Amino acid sequence: MTEGLTPGRDPGEALRLDAVYKAFVPRGRKAEPLLALEDVTFAARPGEFISLVGPSGCGKSTVLNLLAGLMRPSAGHVIHAGREVHGVNTEIGYITQDDNLLPWRSMLRNVEYGLELRGVPRAQRRDRAREFIELVGLAGFEDHYPHELSGGMRKRAGIVRTLAYESGVVLMDEPFGPLDAQTRVILQDELLKLWDRRRPTVLFVTHDLVEAIALSDHILTFSGRPGRIKRAYQVNLPRPRDVFHIHEQAGFKELYDALWDDIRAEITGAGHAA
Ligand SMILES: Nc1ncnc2c1ncn2[C@@H]1O[C@H](COP(=O)(O)OP(=O)(O)O)[C@@H](O)[C@H]1O
Ligand SMILES: [Mg+2]
Repeated sequence: MTEGLTPGRDPGEALRLDAVYKAFVPRGRKAEPLLALEDVTFAARPGEFISLVGPSGCGKSTVLNLLAGLMRPSAGHVIHAGREVHGVNTEIGYITQDDNLLPWRSMLRNVEYGLELRGVPRAQRRDRAREFIELVGLAGFEDHYPHELSGGMRKRAGIVRTLAYESGVVLMDEPFGPLDAQTRVILQDELLKLWDRRRPTVLFVTHDLVEAIALSDHILTFSGRPGRIKRAYQVNLPRPRDVFHIHEQAGFKELYDALWDDIRAEITGAGHAA
């Protein structure tokens, strides 16, 4: 990852935010604009896995929405593959907090959905969808509808739907949020294996510091609102990672403690005094 850089548009970078500010103007004439992001600059090289952590409301989802082109920055630049993002960015995969499966489509047809939008021929998209479904142990459930799947299965289906799309950049917003601790770790392991096949650039939002360490190459901590990047951490644990025993790895505890100190200061408000 590259940070603190001078503005630039290196086409070799997968994505970049350059001095980005985002203010929301509430409805109602007298309402004050709310500054959600302040002077956020970071960049990711292709294949990097980067996590964003920070207190609720610090603008993490806003960062993803800007890259997906769902909103525009108030100031600064949002760049994907060397080009400024204008309008909805369909070249980026986005896994939002909800699984967003279409309730009237079977699991298989949900996984195919992105490929269908892209115009991939039916036989080809079916093969690709089945391959991914197999990889996450969902084979046999192709004809089930979302309401017939468990929470973990729906998350898996949502994730493989986006990864089957094979975009170079994937945004993930607390994708394992509501799952129990055991299912989370199993999905983390599956996600790393899927990621390792093609190594897309991933921007991953989580409030779980262990999860951030287990998955990432770099972790950015954010201050409370307005969200600013507090620090960038490099995760030097070797890959492939054993997510089930990540806390036993040399270097884990030091990194966890540093992250927690950073985040705790924001949650308790101590960080604002600095
Ligand atoms: N579309 C929007 N309109 C108005 N305010 C918004 C909008 N999206 C986010 N916000 C506000 O911006 C701040 C950051 O939100 P968000 O990016 O969702 O934070 P996080 O994902 O870190 O919890 C919050 O105060 C939120 O209420
Ligand atoms: Mg959010």
